[in-house]
Amino acid sequence: MRIDIITVLPELLKSPFEASILKRAQDKGLVSVHIHNLRDYTDDNYKQVDDYQFGGGAGMVLMIEPIDRCISSLKGERDYDEVIYMTPDGETFNQKTANRLSLLKNIIVLCGHYKGVDQRVRDAFVTREISIGDYVLSGGELAAAVLADSIIRLLPGVLNDETSALTDTYQDNLLAPPVYTRPREYKGLEVPAILVSGNFPEIEKWREEEALKRTQKNRPDLLQ
Ligand code: ADE
Repeated sequence: MRIDIITVLPELLKSPFEASILKRAQDKGLVSVHIHNLRDYTDDNYKQVDDYQFGGGAGMVLMIEPIDRCISSLKGERDYDEVIYMTPDGETFNQKTANRLSLLKNIIVLCGHYKGVDQRVRDAFVTREISIGDYVLSGGELAAAVLADSIIRLLPGVLNDETSALTDTYQDNLLAPPVYTRPREYKGLEVPAILVSGNFPEIEKWREEEALKRTQKNRPDLLQ
């Protein structure tokens, strides 16, 4: 899979892809992530990417021309399955969308900034608009990193234990059950006896019950 991210703040996006699972996935050739600085697609001395909005009002708007240049140059090299715009007014991101996007070959992710992008960019180039939640970030970069992380960890071969993504919270609309590790007792806090019983059918049953309890408590909406 190939992910091209277009941004005015590339430095905000670099580090998540330079550590841990996301770095290993790239080193193994399972995904390639390319970050494009929108300013590199300007043709004036000021490298201007934004301007005041028509009709007045506070806040700058990202201009269509550099975005068109960047997207067109990428599309000249390969076909893209989706051009995704990160914006708080998009569809809410969830695990199902992450699963679907992880099956694609090439995607472009455009990060909004300031008041967003000229609407003509959304009308002419964007195929999908995604929000990572009902809150407003100062730009789309952190949202793009969240999106990319959630997709990349689903690619075959990225996680060491291939089954572990299958037991994630949300994969079956249940939250994950509690987990414990050594020591068995810490300052009087004990690990549930069932987990050290060696009775695997009973352990599985306990995990299902605990997952259900946690879902009822924290996310009853998932059980509707
Ligand atoms: N840009 C600003 N806020 C955002 C959000 N919640 N989701 C995606 N992109 C954003």
